[in-house]
Amino acid sequence: MSRLLRRLRPFGATPGATVQGSRRTEGYHTKTSTTTTDDDVWKHAPTLKGSTCFEPRPDVKNIMITGGAGFIACWVVRHLTLTYPSYNIISFDKLDYCSTLNNTNVLSSHPNFSFYQGDITTPSSVLDCMERHNVDTVLHFAAQSHVDLSFGNSYGFTQTNVYGTHVLLESAKKVGIKRFVHISTDEVYGEVKEDEDDLLESSILQPTNPYAASKAAAEMLVHSYQKSFKLPGIIVRSNNVYGPHQYPEKIIPKFSCLLRRAQPVVLHGDGSPTRRYLYASDAADAFDTILHRGILGQIYNVGSSDEISNLDLCHKLVDLIRPPASSSTGASRRWIKYTHDRPFNDRRYAVDASKLRRLGWSQKVGLEEGLRRTVDWYSKFGESWWGNITHVLTPFPGVSELGEVVPDFEHDGRDEPWENGKRG
Ligand SMILES: NC(=O)c1ccc[n+]([C@@H]2O[C@H](COP(=O)([O-])OP(=O)(O)OC[C@H]3O[C@@H](n4cnc5c(N)ncnc54)[C@H](O)[C@@H]3O)[C@@H](O)[C@H]2O)c1
Repeated sequence: MSRLLRRLRPFGATPGATVQGSRRTEGYHTKTSTTTTDDDVWKHAPTLKGSTCFEPRPDVKNIMITGGAGFIACWVVRHLTLTYPSYNIISFDKLDYCSTLNNTNVLSSHPNFSFYQGDITTPSSVLDCMERHNVDTVLHFAAQSHVDLSFGNSYGFTQTNVYGTHVLLESAKKVGIKRFVHISTDEVYGEVKEDEDDLLESSILQPTNPYAASKAAAEMLVHSYQKSFKLPGIIVRSNNVYGPHQYPEKIIPKFSCLLRRAQPVVLHGDGSPTRRYLYASDAADAFDTILHRGILGQIYNVGSSDEISNLDLCHKLVDLIRPPASSSTGASRRWIKYTHDRPFNDRRYAVDASKLRRLGWSQKVGLEEGLRRTVDWYSKFGESWWGNITHVLTPFPGVSELGEVVPDFEHDGRDEPWENGKRG
Protein backbone atom coordinates (compact mmCIF):
# COMPACT_ATOMS: atom_id res chain seq x y z
CA MET A 1 0.00 0.00 0.00
CA SER A 2 2.86 2.37 0.86
CA ARG A 3 3.78 2.96 -2.78
CA LEU A 4 0.26 4.25 -3.20
CA LEU A 5 0.51 6.83 -0.46
CA ARG A 6 0.89 9.68 -2.83
CA ARG A 7 2.11 13.05 -1.71
CA LEU A 8 -1.09 14.91 -2.29
CA ARG A 9 -0.18 18.06 -0.53
CA PRO A 10 0.22 20.56 -3.35
CA PHE A 11 3.24 22.75 -3.69
CA GLY A 12 2.08 26.20 -2.77
CA ALA A 13 3.11 29.39 -1.20
CA THR A 14 5.35 29.23 1.82
CA PRO A 15 3.12 29.20 4.92
CA GLY A 16 2.39 32.71 6.05
CA ALA A 17 3.28 34.16 2.69
CA THR A 18 1.20 36.99 1.38
CA VAL A 19 1.27 37.61 -2.33
CA GLN A 20 -0.46 40.82 -3.34
CA GLY A 21 -1.45 41.36 -6.95
CA SER A 22 1.64 40.77 -9.03
CA ARG A 23 3.98 41.93 -6.25
CA ARG A 24 5.59 39.39 -3.96
CA THR A 25 6.63 40.18 -0.44
CA GLU A 26 10.40 40.06 0.05
CA GLY A 27 11.56 36.80 1.58
CA TYR A 28 8.54 34.77 0.55
CA HIS A 29 8.23 32.64 -2.50
CA THR A 30 5.23 31.21 -4.22
CA LYS A 31 4.70 28.55 -6.80
CA THR A 32 1.64 29.47 -8.75
CA SER A 33 0.23 26.03 -9.39
CA THR A 34 -0.26 22.61 -7.88
CA THR A 35 -0.27 21.08 -11.33
CA THR A 36 2.59 18.79 -12.24
CA THR A 37 1.78 18.45 -15.92
CA ASP A 38 1.02 21.95 -17.13
CA ASP A 39 1.87 24.92 -14.95
CA ASP A 40 0.10 27.27 -17.35
CA VAL A 41 -3.19 25.40 -17.60
CA TRP A 42 -5.07 28.24 -15.89
CA LYS A 43 -4.06 30.63 -18.68
CA HIS A 44 -6.16 28.64 -21.13
CA ALA A 45 -9.29 28.56 -18.97
CA PRO A 46 -12.21 31.01 -19.05
CA THR A 47 -12.53 33.37 -16.08
CA LEU A 48 -15.73 32.23 -14.39
CA LYS A 49 -17.64 34.26 -11.83
CA GLY A 50 -21.14 35.29 -10.79
CA SER A 51 -23.30 38.00 -12.34
CA THR A 52 -24.61 40.18 -9.49
CA CYS A 53 -23.28 43.67 -8.74
CA PHE A 54 -24.35 45.82 -5.80
CA GLU A 55 -23.46 49.27 -4.55
CA PRO A 56 -20.24 48.65 -2.55
CA ARG A 57 -20.83 48.75 1.20
CA PRO A 58 -19.15 51.68 2.95
CA ASP A 59 -18.29 49.47 5.96
CA VAL A 60 -16.53 46.83 3.85
CA LYS A 61 -12.98 47.33 2.63
CA ASN A 62 -10.77 44.29 3.30
CA ILE A 63 -12.43 40.87 2.92
CA MET A 64 -10.71 37.70 4.13
CA ILE A 65 -12.11 34.64 2.32
CA THR A 66 -11.09 31.36 3.92
CA GLY A 67 -10.79 28.32 1.66
CA GLY A 68 -10.26 30.69 -1.29
CA ALA A 69 -8.24 28.14 -3.28
CA GLY A 70 -11.05 25.58 -2.98
CA PHE A 71 -14.17 25.19 -5.10
CA ILE A 72 -17.00 27.48 -4.02
CA ALA A 73 -14.82 30.14 -2.44
CA CYS A 74 -12.68 30.51 -5.58
CA TRP A 75 -15.82 31.52 -7.49
CA VAL A 76 -16.55 34.09 -4.79
CA VAL A 77 -12.92 35.30 -4.73
CA ARG A 78 -12.90 35.83 -8.49
CA HIS A 79 -16.36 37.39 -8.44
CA LEU A 80 -15.65 39.91 -5.67
CA THR A 81 -12.13 40.79 -6.89
CA LEU A 82 -13.29 41.49 -10.43
CA THR A 83 -16.69 43.05 -9.64
CA TYR A 84 -15.62 45.33 -6.78
CA PRO A 85 -12.20 46.98 -7.39
CA SER A 86 -12.77 49.06 -4.24
CA TYR A 87 -12.63 45.93 -2.04
CA ASN A 88 -9.37 44.19 -1.19
CA ILE A 89 -9.82 40.43 -1.31
CA ILE A 90 -7.52 38.23 0.75
CA SER A 91 -7.77 34.54 -0.04
CA PHE A 92 -6.66 32.56 3.02
CA ASP A 93 -6.02 28.87 2.41
CA LYS A 94 -3.93 26.02 3.73
CA LEU A 95 -3.68 24.54 0.21
CA ASP A 96 -5.06 21.18 1.18
CA TYR A 97 -5.25 18.23 -1.25
CA CYS A 98 -8.49 19.49 -2.86
CA SER A 99 -7.28 23.02 -3.59
CA THR A 100 -5.12 24.63 -6.24
CA LEU A 101 -3.82 28.12 -6.89
CA ASN A 102 -4.90 27.51 -10.49
CA ASN A 103 -8.33 28.51 -9.18
CA THR A 104 -7.24 32.10 -8.59
CA ASN A 105 -4.04 32.56 -10.63
CA VAL A 106 -6.00 34.68 -13.10
CA LEU A 107 -6.19 37.34 -10.35
CA SER A 108 -2.47 37.52 -9.69
CA SER A 109 -2.07 40.81 -11.57
CA HIS A 110 -4.99 42.47 -9.79
CA PRO A 111 -3.84 44.91 -7.09
CA ASN A 112 -6.93 44.23 -4.96
CA PHE A 113 -6.17 40.49 -4.66
CA SER A 114 -3.81 38.79 -2.19
CA PHE A 115 -3.20 35.22 -1.25
CA TYR A 116 -2.18 34.19 2.27
CA GLN A 117 -1.20 30.60 2.90
CA GLY A 118 -2.35 29.72 6.39
CA ASP A 119 -4.26 27.21 8.45
CA ILE A 120 -7.47 28.23 10.20
CA THR A 121 -6.52 25.98 13.13
CA THR A 122 -3.39 28.09 13.78
CA PRO A 123 -4.44 31.19 15.76
CA SER A 124 -1.20 33.10 15.09
CA SER A 125 -1.65 32.79 11.29
CA VAL A 126 -5.30 33.80 11.36
CA LEU A 127 -4.59 36.79 13.58
CA ASP A 128 -1.56 37.78 11.53
CA CYS A 129 -3.61 37.75 8.34
CA MET A 130 -6.41 39.80 9.89
CA GLU A 131 -4.03 42.37 11.35
CA ARG A 132 -1.68 42.56 8.38
CA HIS A 133 -4.57 43.22 6.00
CA ASN A 134 -6.75 45.23 8.37
CA VAL A 135 -9.54 42.77 7.69
CA ASP A 136 -13.07 44.03 8.44
CA THR A 137 -15.11 41.27 6.80
CA VAL A 138 -14.74 37.47 6.83
CA LEU A 139 -16.40 34.98 4.48
CA HIS A 140 -15.59 31.63 6.05
CA PHE A 141 -15.67 28.74 3.57
CA ALA A 142 -12.60 26.69 4.60
CA ALA A 143 -13.56 23.20 5.69
CA GLN A 144 -13.04 19.52 5.28
CA SER A 145 -15.98 19.15 2.94
CA HIS A 146 -16.16 15.56 1.69
CA VAL A 147 -18.77 13.44 3.49
CA ASP A 148 -17.23 10.13 2.36
CA LEU A 149 -13.90 10.98 3.99
CA SER A 150 -15.62 12.03 7.20
CA PHE A 151 -16.69 8.43 7.89
CA GLY A 152 -13.02 7.39 8.17
CA ASN A 153 -11.34 10.60 9.28
CA SER A 154 -13.85 12.23 11.57
CA TYR A 155 -11.31 13.77 13.99
CA GLY A 156 -9.88 15.74 11.06
CA PHE A 157 -13.35 17.13 10.34
CA THR A 158 -13.87 18.22 13.94
CA GLN A 159 -10.40 19.76 14.04
CA THR A 160 -10.86 21.86 10.91
CA ASN A 161 -14.56 22.55 10.85
CA VAL A 162 -15.20 23.08 14.56
CA TYR A 163 -11.88 24.12 16.09
CA GLY A 164 -10.88 26.06 12.95
CA THR A 165 -14.14 28.01 13.07
CA HIS A 166 -13.57 28.66 16.76
CA VAL A 167 -10.12 30.09 16.02
CA LEU A 168 -11.59 32.36 13.36
CA LEU A 169 -14.33 33.57 15.70
CA GLU A 170 -11.91 34.28 18.53
CA SER A 171 -9.60 36.16 16.16
CA ALA A 172 -12.56 38.03 14.66
CA LYS A 173 -13.59 39.09 18.16
CA LYS A 174 -10.05 40.30 18.95
CA VAL A 175 -9.70 42.50 15.88
CA GLY A 176 -13.33 43.71 15.83
CA ILE A 177 -14.55 42.19 12.57
CA LYS A 178 -17.65 44.04 11.30
CA ARG A 179 -19.24 41.22 9.29
CA PHE A 180 -18.60 37.47 9.64
CA VAL A 181 -20.39 35.29 7.10
CA HIS A 182 -20.18 31.63 8.05
CA ILE A 183 -20.77 29.10 5.26
CA SER A 184 -22.67 26.06 6.46
CA THR A 185 -24.63 23.40 4.59
CA ASP A 186 -28.14 22.04 4.11
CA GLU A 187 -26.79 18.78 5.54
CA VAL A 188 -27.02 20.21 9.07
CA TYR A 189 -30.80 19.64 8.88
CA GLY A 190 -30.41 15.94 8.17
CA GLU A 191 -32.57 14.16 5.64
CA VAL A 192 -35.98 15.34 4.52
CA LYS A 193 -38.58 12.73 3.55
CA GLU A 194 -40.26 12.86 0.13
CA ASP A 195 -43.59 14.05 1.53
CA GLU A 196 -42.12 16.69 3.83
CA ASP A 197 -42.16 20.43 3.16
CA ASP A 198 -38.96 22.27 2.30
CA LEU A 199 -37.21 23.35 5.48
CA LEU A 200 -37.10 26.91 6.72
CA GLU A 201 -34.10 28.35 8.54
CA SER A 202 -35.92 27.84 11.86
CA SER A 203 -36.02 24.03 11.46
CA ILE A 204 -34.12 21.94 13.96
CA LEU A 205 -30.70 20.55 13.11
CA GLN A 206 -30.36 16.76 12.98
CA PRO A 207 -27.10 15.96 11.16
CA THR A 208 -26.57 12.31 10.29
CA ASN A 209 -22.89 12.06 9.33
CA PRO A 210 -19.66 13.34 10.95
CA TYR A 211 -19.18 16.04 8.30
CA ALA A 212 -22.67 17.46 8.81
CA ALA A 213 -22.32 17.18 12.59
CA SER A 214 -19.08 19.16 12.52
CA LYS A 215 -20.76 21.86 10.42
CA ALA A 216 -23.69 22.01 12.83
CA ALA A 217 -21.28 22.26 15.76
CA ALA A 218 -19.46 25.12 14.04
CA GLU A 219 -22.79 26.93 13.67
CA MET A 220 -23.35 26.63 17.42
CA LEU A 221 -20.05 28.40 18.03
CA VAL A 222 -21.00 31.18 15.61
CA HIS A 223 -24.33 31.56 17.36
CA SER A 224 -22.66 31.68 20.78
CA TYR A 225 -20.22 34.41 19.66
CA GLN A 226 -23.14 36.41 18.31
CA LYS A 227 -24.89 36.20 21.68
CA SER A 228 -21.93 36.42 24.09
CA PHE A 229 -19.71 38.88 22.26
CA LYS A 230 -22.09 40.62 19.82
CA LEU A 231 -20.07 39.22 16.95
CA PRO A 232 -21.86 40.47 13.78
CA GLY A 233 -22.47 37.14 12.10
CA ILE A 234 -24.59 35.62 9.34
CA ILE A 235 -24.99 31.87 8.72
CA VAL A 236 -25.60 30.47 5.23
CA ARG A 237 -26.86 26.92 4.56
CA SER A 238 -26.48 25.89 0.95
CA ASN A 239 -27.61 23.00 -1.22
CA ASN A 240 -25.04 21.04 -3.19
CA VAL A 241 -23.06 23.30 -5.48
CA TYR A 242 -21.47 22.06 -8.72
CA GLY A 243 -19.56 23.44 -11.67
CA PRO A 244 -16.03 23.98 -13.00
CA HIS A 245 -13.21 24.16 -10.42
CA GLN A 246 -14.66 21.49 -8.09
CA TYR A 247 -12.09 18.88 -7.05
CA PRO A 248 -13.06 15.57 -8.70
CA GLU A 249 -13.90 13.80 -5.45
CA LYS A 250 -17.57 14.89 -5.60
CA ILE A 251 -20.08 13.10 -7.80
CA ILE A 252 -20.41 15.40 -10.84
CA PRO A 253 -16.73 16.12 -11.54
CA LYS A 254 -15.67 12.62 -10.50
CA PHE A 255 -18.13 10.88 -12.81
CA SER A 256 -17.37 13.36 -15.61
CA CYS A 257 -13.67 12.53 -15.37
CA LEU A 258 -14.31 8.77 -15.23
CA LEU A 259 -16.59 8.80 -18.26
CA ARG A 260 -14.14 10.98 -20.14
CA ARG A 261 -11.51 8.30 -19.39
CA ALA A 262 -13.96 5.71 -20.79
CA GLN A 263 -14.30 4.13 -17.35
CA PRO A 264 -17.66 3.28 -15.75
CA VAL A 265 -18.98 5.25 -12.79
CA VAL A 266 -19.69 3.39 -9.54
CA LEU A 267 -22.78 4.42 -7.58
CA HIS A 268 -23.14 4.02 -3.81
CA GLY A 269 -26.17 1.87 -2.94
CA ASP A 270 -28.93 1.84 -5.56
CA GLY A 271 -28.46 5.47 -6.61
CA SER A 272 -31.95 6.47 -5.49
CA PRO A 273 -31.10 9.26 -2.98
CA THR A 274 -31.75 12.68 -4.46
CA ARG A 275 -29.86 15.95 -4.13
CA ARG A 276 -30.56 19.51 -5.23
CA TYR A 277 -27.82 21.11 -7.30
CA LEU A 278 -26.96 24.75 -7.71
CA TYR A 279 -24.54 25.92 -10.40
CA ALA A 280 -21.51 27.71 -8.94
CA SER A 281 -22.19 31.12 -10.53
CA ASP A 282 -25.59 31.13 -8.83
CA ALA A 283 -23.90 30.25 -5.54
CA ALA A 284 -21.42 33.12 -6.03
CA ASP A 285 -24.39 35.45 -6.61
CA ALA A 286 -26.04 34.16 -3.44
CA PHE A 287 -22.96 34.92 -1.32
CA ASP A 288 -22.58 38.33 -2.99
CA THR A 289 -26.25 39.08 -2.24
CA ILE A 290 -25.88 38.00 1.39
CA LEU A 291 -22.69 40.03 1.80
CA HIS A 292 -24.41 43.16 0.53
CA ARG A 293 -28.02 42.74 1.62
CA GLY A 294 -27.97 40.09 4.33
CA ILE A 295 -29.06 41.15 7.81
CA LEU A 296 -26.66 40.52 10.67
CA GLY A 297 -27.80 37.80 13.05
CA GLN A 298 -29.84 36.04 10.35
CA ILE A 299 -29.57 32.59 8.75
CA TYR A 300 -30.14 32.15 5.00
CA ASN A 301 -30.82 28.95 3.08
CA VAL A 302 -29.44 28.81 -0.46
CA GLY A 303 -31.61 26.46 -2.49
CA SER A 304 -31.91 25.16 -6.01
CA SER A 305 -35.07 24.03 -7.78
CA ASP A 306 -33.21 21.18 -9.51
CA GLU A 307 -33.55 17.93 -7.58
CA ILE A 308 -32.32 14.68 -9.12
CA SER A 309 -31.42 11.17 -7.97
CA ASN A 310 -27.82 10.02 -8.20
CA LEU A 311 -28.86 7.42 -10.77
CA ASP A 312 -30.66 9.92 -13.00
CA LEU A 313 -27.69 12.23 -12.71
CA CYS A 314 -25.48 9.39 -14.00
CA HIS A 315 -27.75 8.92 -16.98
CA LYS A 316 -27.51 12.62 -17.80
CA LEU A 317 -23.71 12.52 -17.62
CA VAL A 318 -23.53 9.38 -19.75
CA ASP A 319 -25.81 11.05 -22.31
CA LEU A 320 -23.53 14.09 -22.43
CA ILE A 321 -20.17 12.32 -22.42
CA ARG A 322 -20.81 8.85 -23.82
CA PRO A 323 -23.68 9.07 -26.30
CA PRO A 324 -25.67 7.32 -27.70
CA ALA A 325 -28.23 7.72 -25.00
CA SER A 326 -27.81 5.89 -21.72
CA SER A 327 -31.47 4.91 -21.78
CA SER A 328 -30.58 1.72 -23.62
CA THR A 329 -29.98 -1.16 -21.21
CA GLY A 330 -26.64 -1.96 -22.83
CA ALA A 331 -25.31 1.57 -22.31
CA SER A 332 -26.54 1.61 -18.70
CA ARG A 333 -24.75 -1.65 -17.90
CA ARG A 334 -21.61 -0.54 -19.69
CA TRP A 335 -21.24 2.79 -17.90
CA ILE A 336 -23.14 2.54 -14.59
CA LYS A 337 -22.02 0.14 -11.84
CA TYR A 338 -22.89 -0.21 -8.17
CA THR A 339 -21.13 -0.74 -4.86
CA HIS A 340 -22.28 -0.81 -1.23
CA ASP A 341 -23.82 2.32 0.26
CA ARG A 342 -22.38 4.84 2.73
CA PRO A 343 -22.83 3.87 6.41
CA PHE A 344 -25.80 6.23 6.27
CA ASN A 345 -27.01 8.05 3.18
CA ASP A 346 -29.59 10.80 3.58
CA ARG A 347 -32.52 10.24 1.19
CA ARG A 348 -32.70 13.89 0.26
CA TYR A 349 -32.19 17.44 1.47
CA ALA A 350 -34.73 20.15 0.86
CA VAL A 351 -34.36 23.75 1.96
CA ASP A 352 -36.71 26.65 1.37
CA ALA A 353 -34.73 29.60 -0.03
CA SER A 354 -37.55 32.15 -0.11
CA LYS A 355 -35.85 34.31 2.56
CA LEU A 356 -32.81 34.70 0.28
CA ARG A 357 -35.03 35.32 -2.74
CA ARG A 358 -36.61 38.19 -0.81
CA LEU A 359 -33.15 39.81 -0.82
CA GLY A 360 -33.31 39.74 -4.62
CA TRP A 361 -31.40 36.54 -5.41
CA SER A 362 -32.64 34.03 -7.98
CA GLN A 363 -31.31 30.86 -9.57
CA LYS A 364 -30.35 31.61 -13.17
CA VAL A 365 -28.68 28.42 -14.45
CA GLY A 366 -30.76 25.26 -14.69
CA LEU A 367 -29.31 21.79 -14.31
CA GLU A 368 -29.21 20.94 -18.04
CA GLU A 369 -27.26 24.06 -18.92
CA GLY A 370 -25.04 23.85 -15.83
CA LEU A 371 -24.14 20.22 -16.51
CA ARG A 372 -23.31 21.01 -20.13
CA ARG A 373 -20.95 23.82 -19.06
CA THR A 374 -19.41 21.65 -16.35
CA VAL A 375 -18.82 18.63 -18.56
CA ASP A 376 -17.29 20.85 -21.21
CA TRP A 377 -14.87 22.42 -18.68
CA TYR A 378 -13.77 19.05 -17.27
CA SER A 379 -13.18 17.67 -20.74
CA LYS A 380 -10.67 20.48 -21.30
CA PHE A 381 -9.12 20.96 -17.86
CA GLY A 382 -10.12 18.09 -15.54
CA GLU A 383 -7.00 16.04 -16.16
CA SER A 384 -4.47 18.83 -15.70
CA TRP A 385 -6.00 21.31 -13.22
CA TRP A 386 -5.06 19.40 -10.04
CA GLY A 387 -2.29 17.14 -11.37
CA ASN A 388 -2.83 13.41 -11.02
CA ILE A 389 -6.39 12.67 -9.86
CA THR A 390 -6.51 8.90 -10.42
CA HIS A 391 -6.46 8.07 -6.71
CA VAL A 392 -9.65 10.06 -5.97
CA LEU A 393 -11.69 8.48 -8.75
CA THR A 394 -12.22 5.19 -6.87
CA PRO A 395 -15.63 4.69 -5.20
CA PHE A 396 -14.52 5.12 -1.58
CA PRO A 397 -11.10 6.79 -1.29
CA GLY A 398 -9.78 6.69 2.28
CA VAL A 399 -7.41 8.68 4.43
CA SER A 400 -3.99 7.25 5.33
CA GLU A 401 -2.36 7.47 8.75
CA LEU A 402 -0.48 10.46 7.35
CA GLY A 403 -3.79 12.18 6.70
CA GLU A 404 -3.52 11.78 2.94
CA VAL A 405 -6.25 10.66 0.57
CA VAL A 406 -5.54 7.20 -0.82
CA PRO A 407 -7.34 5.12 -3.41
CA ASP A 408 -9.67 2.30 -2.58
CA PHE A 409 -9.22 -1.02 -4.35
CA GLU A 410 -11.91 -3.13 -2.81
CA HIS A 411 -14.93 -1.94 -4.69
CA ASP A 412 -15.10 -3.08 -8.25
CA GLY A 413 -18.53 -2.08 -9.42
CA ARG A 414 -21.28 -4.66 -9.93
CA ASP A 415 -23.91 -4.54 -12.63
CA GLU A 416 -26.77 -4.51 -10.11
CA PRO A 417 -27.18 -2.68 -6.78
CA TRP A 418 -26.24 -4.53 -3.60
CA GLU A 419 -29.25 -5.91 -1.78
CA ASN A 420 -30.46 -3.16 0.65
CA GLY A 421 -27.33 -1.24 -0.31
CA LYS A 422 -25.24 -3.61 1.85
CA ARG A 423 -22.56 -6.14 0.99
CA GLY A 424 -23.90 -9.63 0.49
N1 LIG B 1 -19.60 21.79 -2.26
C1 LIG B 1 -20.86 21.83 -1.85
O1 LIG B 1 -21.74 21.32 -2.54
C2 LIG B 1 -21.24 22.53 -0.57
C3 LIG B 1 -22.60 22.65 -0.24
C4 LIG B 1 -22.96 23.31 0.93
C5 LIG B 1 -21.99 23.87 1.73
N2 LIG B 1 -20.67 23.74 1.41
C6 LIG B 1 -19.68 24.37 2.28
O2 LIG B 1 -19.02 25.35 1.52
C7 LIG B 1 -17.66 25.45 1.94
C8 LIG B 1 -16.75 25.24 0.74
O3 LIG B 1 -17.01 23.95 0.19
P1 LIG B 1 -16.22 23.45 -1.10
O4 LIG B 1 -17.00 22.36 -1.68
O5 LIG B 1 -15.86 24.61 -1.93
O6 LIG B 1 -14.93 22.85 -0.40
P2 LIG B 1 -13.52 22.44 -0.98
O7 LIG B 1 -13.19 21.16 -0.30
O8 LIG B 1 -13.48 22.52 -2.47
O9 LIG B 1 -12.57 23.59 -0.45
C9 LIG B 1 -12.23 23.73 0.89
C10 LIG B 1 -11.04 24.67 0.96
O10 LIG B 1 -10.70 24.86 2.33
C11 LIG B 1 -9.29 24.76 2.45
N3 LIG B 1 -8.98 24.31 3.80
C12 LIG B 1 -9.28 23.10 4.34
N4 LIG B 1 -8.81 23.05 5.59
C13 LIG B 1 -8.22 24.24 5.85
C14 LIG B 1 -7.56 24.79 6.97
N5 LIG B 1 -7.40 24.08 8.10
N6 LIG B 1 -7.08 26.06 6.89
C15 LIG B 1 -7.24 26.78 5.75
N7 LIG B 1 -7.84 26.30 4.66
C16 LIG B 1 -8.33 25.05 4.70
C17 LIG B 1 -8.86 23.76 1.39
O11 LIG B 1 -7.49 23.89 1.07
C18 LIG B 1 -9.78 24.13 0.26
O12 LIG B 1 -9.21 25.12 -0.54
C19 LIG B 1 -17.47 24.42 3.03
O13 LIG B 1 -17.59 25.06 4.26
C20 LIG B 1 -18.62 23.44 2.82
O14 LIG B 1 -19.00 22.85 4.04
C21 LIG B 1 -20.28 23.07 0.28
